Amino acid sequence: MKVAVAQEKFPGERRVALVPAAVAPLKKAGIDVAVESGAGKAAGFSDDAYRAAGAEIVSRDEAFAADCLLTVRTCGANGDAWHADRDRLRPGQIVIGMCDPLSEAAACREAADRGVTLFSLELVPRITRAQSMDVLSSQANIAGYRAVLVAATALPRILPMMTTAAGTVTPAKALILGAGVAGLQAIATAKRLGAQVSAYDVRPAVKEQVQSLGAKFVELPLETGTSETAGGYAKAMGEEFYAKQRELLGKVVADSDIVICTALIPGQKAPILVTREMVARMRPGSVIVDMAAERGGNCEGSAPDETVVLDGVTILGPTNLPAEVPFHTSQLYAKNISTFLQHLVKTGLPDVSLDDEICRDTLVARGGQLVHPKVRERAGLPPLDAPTT
Ligand code: NAI
Repeated sequence: MKVAVAQEKFPGERRVALVPAAVAPLKKAGIDVAVESGAGKAAGFSDDAYRAAGAEIVSRDEAFAADCLLTVRTCGANGDAWHADRDRLRPGQIVIGMCDPLSEAAACREAADRGVTLFSLELVPRITRAQSMDVLSSQANIAGYRAVLVAATALPRILPMMTTAAGTVTPAKALILGAGVAGLQAIATAKRLGAQVSAYDVRPAVKEQVQSLGAKFVELPLETGTSETAGGYAKAMGEEFYAKQRELLGKVVADSDIVICTALIPGQKAPILVTREMVARMRPGSVIVDMAAERGGNCEGSAPDETVVLDGVTILGPTNLPAEVPFHTSQLYAKNISTFLQHLVKTGLPDVSLDDEICRDTLVARGGQLVHPKVRERAGLPPLDAPTT
């Protein structure tokens, strides 16, 4: 089998799906690797480095002719760039990448219509044996780190306490809302930079993890017993719950110099945790980084990829933090996608068995049809086994 990596075309996307170090393990598994010339350049990987690792350097047309395409962004995750790529795909071709399948099911349907076998890496289940394939975790981890650096740079104060001949500077207060993958790394990064860090999450199970990083867990008198799914994700709570949460969080938010918002309910609009009124109560110069801006935002007033200043508070809504550190995010992504590919090969690619949980959960389209039940539902299609009359 021949796999190929084409250059990413999404505006601002600097990551690449495979790095040179990931080529040898694939070749060892009997997979030939082709890379479009220049595909790794923005991430710091030259054509020569890929060549030295055993990959063939090819044109874009040649890359799209491969049996299997490895991408960072495809379908709905690729914006307008998807349309040009879509027309190059052919029946039976395998495409693996991030597709944004639950928000952009229509684009996945287009891939199905082209007869593509499509795997979405966002759908890798959060189970132990799939951890090394989990792109959401590998990328969110670095995004959490980056979010704190972005906030620290926009803040008119420093983060650590400093005792100097010219006086003592008190540490900045950072509040992390949502202590999942991105949030925990944001806590660790803010701690390393010397901030006084607090964090809040609806899942009581994360309290210990927050504390083990040296941060204070904000306790709110809310009933959170049913806030976690069996898969370890947060469940959507009722509007009454969110209203109470905002009321209780108001004081902590007002007393923070930095707020990093990372709260997520998979496949749904982000919950609003910080309202316009809460922003107005913050000190001028404070900074909010809303990592959920692309999904509607955790903070009222945030806008995707924009800097909004409200009552002297700077609200940033960066949507592609992983692309700002493409060398390492590509390295981790490459490990995820190549482990995933090798798993598919072991399970009989192209005819992967749906008895395998990882294959079943990630396979979006095959044989001209959308096959993933949730993606079908989002695309407005009936379940596959439903009677047609
Ligand atoms: P995750 O699922 O690991 O963590 C989300 C956390 O939010 C969970 O711990 C959950 O319990 C918590 N949460 C849900 N509702 C809450 C509420 N009402 N109050 C407090 N906590 C709540 O997700 P992950 O991977 O850490 O991603 C976090 C966010 O960052 C997502 O919105 C994701 O889309 C976004 N993201 C943004 C990037 C960017 O460049 N802007 C890059 C990567 C991720």
